[in-house]
Amino acid sequence: MILLLLAACGAPSPVPPPTTSTPAVACGELPDVSWDAWGNGFFRTYCTACHSSANVAQRGGAPIGVDFDTRAAVEARASDVRRVVLEQGTMPVGGGVFPDDLLLLEVFLSCGLSD
Ligand code: HEC
Repeated sequence: MILLLLAACGAPSPVPPPTTSTPAVACGELPDVSWDAWGNGFFRTYCTACHSSANVAQRGGAPIGVDFDTRAAVEARASDVRRVVLEQGTMPVGGGVFPDDLLLLEVFLSCGLSD
């Protein structure tokens, strides 16, 4: 998935097309998408207007407890984030995530939460 996305988007360092014998790209060779470098900013930009533990009154209908304002909270729902943003495209409400950020979210969910 990462290989396909990087190749499709013409990333600065071209990645050869995946074959069954191509090993996965090591996380260290991908952009730095740690929580501090990227994740925190992504979720503040796109999600915490509705999904923040600091916000119980004006959540735009987001379920109480489904929050993305801390690394731990995102980590606990990483598979939900992948599903609603990358697979279903139902979040954020109204869409509007820049294509580059969708690519980086894929990298973040695969690599950024493991450091
Ligand atoms: C404008 C408000 C708003 C924003 C911004 C928003 N959401 Fe939501 N979110 C909702 C509402 C309303 C629901 C409940 C209705 C639903 O599930 O569609 C919800 C539900 C969810 C759920 C639980 C539903 C499920 O299928 O698991 C997840 C996970 C989620 N949002 C993730 C995100 C992520 C990740 C972002 C940022 C990329 C985001 N949301 C941005 C309003 C928002």
